[in-house]
Amino acid sequence: MQIHLFDTSQQVGQAAAMLIAAQILQKPDSVLGLATGSTPIPTYQELIRLNRDGVVDFSRVTSFNLDEYCGLPVEHECSYHSFMHEQLFSHINIDLAHTHVPDGNAVDQQAECARYDMAINQAGGIDVQILGIGRNGHIGFNEPSDTFVYGCHIVNLTQSTIAANRRFFESEDAVPRQAISLGIGSIMNARQIILLATGSDKADAIHRAIRQDITPRTQASILRTHPNVLFLLDKAAAGLL
Ligand code: GLP
Repeated sequence: MQIHLFDTSQQVGQAAAMLIAAQILQKPDSVLGLATGSTPIPTYQELIRLNRDGVVDFSRVTSFNLDEYCGLPVEHECSYHSFMHEQLFSHINIDLAHTHVPDGNAVDQQAECARYDMAINQAGGIDVQILGIGRNGHIGFNEPSDTFVYGCHIVNLTQSTIAANRRFFESEDAVPRQAISLGIGSIMNARQIILLATGSDKADAIHRAIRQDITPRTQASILRTHPNVLFLLDKAAAGLL
């Protein structure tokens, strides 16, 4: 486990983007695991700039997103499909046929979970997984629990996550109660993991993930057992370490 500290969230984004760019330069057909939320936005902005400047070419890259809300139309402005399109995909030369976000509206949810894990395996597995972290220590939508769930699965969102994500929706009632998420095993199978955390509202989750017990009550704590994990933190997120 390596921890890198930066003064600002902008610098965290630049560092993450450089690592992703280096990965793509080394392996142009890299498979990226991508995250949503406010935290990776500076990373995506920097990747867009690097792509525009001709430094990094996404034409052979494949991506798999971590998660999606259940029951939200794909075209809804708060869907993670829409987020990825607006924040990254529509600004870079990635082939949209090579981008993947789980289907939160599948009639057979179990089949969709199995299909998504299988698609990652068939693509050769994830080279670099980008993660944010929830205020309760969740990664993807793996909420605090008594167990770590291995594969892609359907999650009941906790009240804390519904409240945290309410800012993107008209009201708390409009926040979906369920999501489809990669499991902890699928995340841990990535060859490299880069967790980004910025802002003081992540300081407690980061402290629990890095300094306290490895427990499914803080799902991100398992990352410490990964052989190649980087925590990129700004000073505020690292404030309790
Ligand atoms: C959501 C996503 C997570 C993300 C988290 C934190 O719950 N499912 O993948 O890490 O929010 O989001 P933010 O970066 O906006 O704080």
